[in-house]
Amino acid sequence: MDTIYILDFGGQYCHLIARRIRELGIYSEILPYDIDFKKFKKIKPKAIILSGGPNSVYESNSPKLKKDFFEYIKKNSIPVLGICYGHQLIVHLFKGKIEVREKKEYGKITLHTIEPTILFDDLEKVETVWMSHGDQVVELPEGFSVLAETENCPIAAYCSNDKLLYGVQFHPEVSNTPKGDLILENFALKIAQCKKDWKLDDWIQRSIENIQKQVGSDNRVILGLSGGVDSSVTAILLHKAIGDRLHCIFVNNGVLRKNEEFEVQKVFKDELYFKNFHYVNAEDFFLERLKGIEDPEEKRKIIGHAFIEIFEKKTIELEKKFPKIKYLAQGTIYPDRVETAAIGKTTAKIKSHHNLTLPDDMKLEIIEPLKDLYKDEVRKIGLELGLPADLINRHPFPGPGLAVRIVGSINKERLDILREADQILIEDIKRAGIYDNLWQVFCVFLPLKTVGIMGDYRTYEYICSIRIVESLDAMTANFAKLDWDLLERIGARIVNEVEGINRVVYDISNKPPSTIEYE
Ligand code: XMP
Repeated sequence: MDTIYILDFGGQYCHLIARRIRELGIYSEILPYDIDFKKFKKIKPKAIILSGGPNSVYESNSPKLKKDFFEYIKKNSIPVLGICYGHQLIVHLFKGKIEVREKKEYGKITLHTIEPTILFDDLEKVETVWMSHGDQVVELPEGFSVLAETENCPIAAYCSNDKLLYGVQFHPEVSNTPKGDLILENFALKIAQCKKDWKLDDWIQRSIENIQKQVGSDNRVILGLSGGVDSSVTAILLHKAIGDRLHCIFVNNGVLRKNEEFEVQKVFKDELYFKNFHYVNAEDFFLERLKGIEDPEEKRKIIGHAFIEIFEKKTIELEKKFPKIKYLAQGTIYPDRVETAAIGKTTAKIKSHHNLTLPDDMKLEIIEPLKDLYKDEVRKIGLELGLPADLINRHPFPGPGLAVRIVGSINKERLDILREADQILIEDIKRAGIYDNLWQVFCVFLPLKTVGIMGDYRTYEYICSIRIVESLDAMTANFAKLDWDLLERIGARIVNEVEGINRVVYDISNKPPSTIEYE
C-alpha cells in the first residue's frame, strides 16, 4: 500500500496531517523524526512530510535530520514536503538562512503565488493560509526557488529545482487554510503519484482474516468492554472473526451514567447476540475504595487499580472454565499509541488518562485490532459492522467516569444527583437536535451549597454546572454558545426535577486555559 510517512518534530498538528492524507484515501503514519535509519529504509515511503514543531532550527539541540536521510531520498526520488519547522529545517540543512523575526505571523494571512507549481494546482494566485511562526526563511540554498510570499514572509513556500523537496511556512492541514486539502492532495497525488488504495472495507476483511489467523481455530479472547466506541468496535470486529470465542467483561464501577449498565447489555446481549458477555457489578467495591478521596489523580489511580483487580479476578474465573483463553484484546487506537510513544516526550502532564495496563504475570497475548486507526475511521467501521448509530456517535466519556465530574469526594447520594441531572441535560440536547454537533455535553456536581427558594420554602442545596463544548480533537475546545431559551429550560428542569440541586450554572470557559473535564 502506498504510504506517506510524517516525521514528527513535536508539532501539535501531526495527527491532523495524517488524518488529512488518509481522508484522501492514502495510508499515512507518523514516525519519530529520529527513527533508526535502517528501519526507515525498510518501510519504503512513497513520500515524506516533515511536521511543524516548537523549536528553532539554528539551536544546537533542536531536532534535525541526518545527511544520509536526504541522500536516500534523492537516490530513490522520494518527494518531501516540509511544513513550518519542516520547511525551515530543509533550508537549514542545505545551508540556507533562517532568522527570528520581530513580527511574528499568527493567524489567517494572505498568500501570493509567485511561480506556477504543481503544489498549488487549482489554487488562485491569492489565497488565505494559516500561519503560526516566529522564525522564517530569509535566504534559500542554491538550487531552490521561491513559490509564494506573504506580506511579512517573502519565502512562504519553495521547491528544489529537481522538484523533490517542497516547503510551506503555513499549515495546509488546518481548516483555517481553506485550500489546504488541495495542496496536500496535489503533493500526494500529483507530485508523489500515490495510489488511493486505503479503503476501510478492505481493511475490515483483512483485519478479520488476520484475527482468525492469529487466534487460531479454538483459542479464546478476553476483552474489557466499556461501551465506549473503541472497545465496542473492537468487540464487534472480534465477534465477526471468532464468534462466541470472544468473552467480554463489562464492569459496573459505580461511576457510570444513569442506566448505562442496562443499555450496554441490551446492545450486546439482546441485539447483537453476544453469548459470552459477562456483567460484573462492582459498584460497592469501587465506592468503598473511593470513600473520602478528594484528589483527582488519586481517584484515577484508585479506579484504574480497582478495575484491574476486578478484571483479573473475573478473567481467572473464566480461565478455569475456558482454558483456551489465550488473548487479551484492547481497543487501543492510533493516537493512543503514538501519544504514549516518543511524541509526548516533551509535553507536560496535565492529567493522567486511565488506560488499562495489566500486570505482567497475566500471560495473555495482546490483540489490538484498531491500533492503526483514527477515531473517525473506527466509527465508520463500527457502523459498517452493525453497531447502533447512537452508540457510535456517543460523546467521549472518561475512563474514571463520573468520579471526575464530582468535585471532591464521591458518594452514592452525589452520584445519584449527578446522574439525574446529566440525564435531563442529554435528553434535552438530543431533543433539540444538536447532540451530534457538540463534542461533549455533561453535568458536573459542585460540592457547594447555596440558598434558594422553592414555593414558600427556603432551600439549601448543591450547585450543578453544565459543561457543553465544541471541539475537533479535545486538544482545544470552546464552550458552546447555545440558545438561552434552551439553557433556561434545561436549568429549570434540573432544579425542578432533581432533588438536591437548587442552582444551575453554565460554564463559559474554553480550553485552554481550562480543561474539558473538571478534574
Ligand atoms: P480534558 O479534561 O483533559 O479532556 O480537557 C480531554 C478529553 O479527554 C477525556 N478525558 C479522559 N478520558 N480518561 C479518559 O479515558 C481520563 O482520565 C480522562 N480525562 C479526560 C475528556 O472527556 C475529553 O474528551
